[in-house]
Amino acid sequence: EKGGYDSFMEKEINEQPKAVEDTLLGRTDASGQLTLDELRIDPEELKNTSKIIVLACGTAAYAGHVAKYAIEHWCRIPVEVELAHEFRYRDPIIDENTLVVSISQSGETMDTLMAVRYAKEQGARTLSICNTNGSTIPRESDAVLYLHAGPEIAVASTKAFLAMIAASYLLGLYLAQLRGQLFREEIKDILADLHKIPAKIQKILDSSEDIKALARAMKDTPSVLFLGRHVGFPVALEGALKLKELAYIHAEGFAAGELKHGPIALIEQDQPVFVVVPSPRGRDSLHSKVVSNIQEVRARGAKTITVAEAGDDAVREFSETVFFVPETSPLLMPLLTTVPLQIFACALAAEKGYDVDQPRNLAKSVTVE
Ligand code: F6R
Repeated sequence: EKGGYDSFMEKEINEQPKAVEDTLLGRTDASGQLTLDELRIDPEELKNTSKIIVLACGTAAYAGHVAKYAIEHWCRIPVEVELAHEFRYRDPIIDENTLVVSISQSGETMDTLMAVRYAKEQGARTLSICNTNGSTIPRESDAVLYLHAGPEIAVASTKAFLAMIAASYLLGLYLAQLRGQLFREEIKDILADLHKIPAKIQKILDSSEDIKALARAMKDTPSVLFLGRHVGFPVALEGALKLKELAYIHAEGFAAGELKHGPIALIEQDQPVFVVVPSPRGRDSLHSKVVSNIQEVRARGAKTITVAEAGDDAVREFSETVFFVPETSPLLMPLLTTVPLQIFACALAAEKGYDVDQPRNLAKSVTVE
């Protein structure tokens, strides 16, 4: 049932092209308009959304971070992302024009469920992005957008993460369409880019031998840092979480801009630092600022490992190792840049002889608060 792979995790990493494809499937009509009728919330109500609060835990919360960048950019609706277990305890500001979007693979995470219930009591509309059909969170929400990524067996989330991000993009584009915030052609172009993602993920999977070799060579490393900026920031957090969960290595993700405000003090000779580099075609100066960060840590002895867009030759000079991912539009990059980090964590843990499907102390679905 592992489909010839050594673990469910490897199988699920390799299923990601299909998972993303299935999340996108059947959500546009013949004219290219997004059709999320399944949402069951009156489009007029959705149109009046004045604020979005994304609630989730762990990996799902990182998908929420990515969603914030995309939805704010496309829809001009303010988006807050909050860990579900923090939400109820801070007297959040909610009204009937607040859309609370929960993200959960299992649909049973108690922290997320309790936060959704609280939001509902306070009068918010609730929308669930979820992978598990008929689970509690979607049942208790006003609307649901299912991932259709297929069952995820390994405790550490991989394909559900990419599917959550893809579903968040669909939601963002749908809201932009309802509100007339983007031109039809713009939405069509972004959807076309999204539909090209599965083949690009496949390309990364097909050339993953170098990442696995690096992981094997690094099996005794005591600590790994991950830097990212813009949508690469949540990817860095996810890369660090995967390594903690699977390989029990101290790993931390930072916003690259935060480096000089503290974390750079951690850099010493041979400290491995992964850098998720933004697209050179994205926002002005973002790329060059991150390239400067690579130089800064390298000058202090770090072993720099970069994940960059194909053709981004500026990073080569300052990187010990570079993993290139295919080009896509800057906001969609997490669907690609996450993959090498998952492969890295999985291969490193396997090399250490750990059970990657059932890491110690963790459960697939956390049904206690
Ligand atoms: C990370 C991981 C956890 C879950 C979190 C939320 O690999 O598995 O961080 O992402 O417990 O779970 P769901 O998505 O089921 O609500």
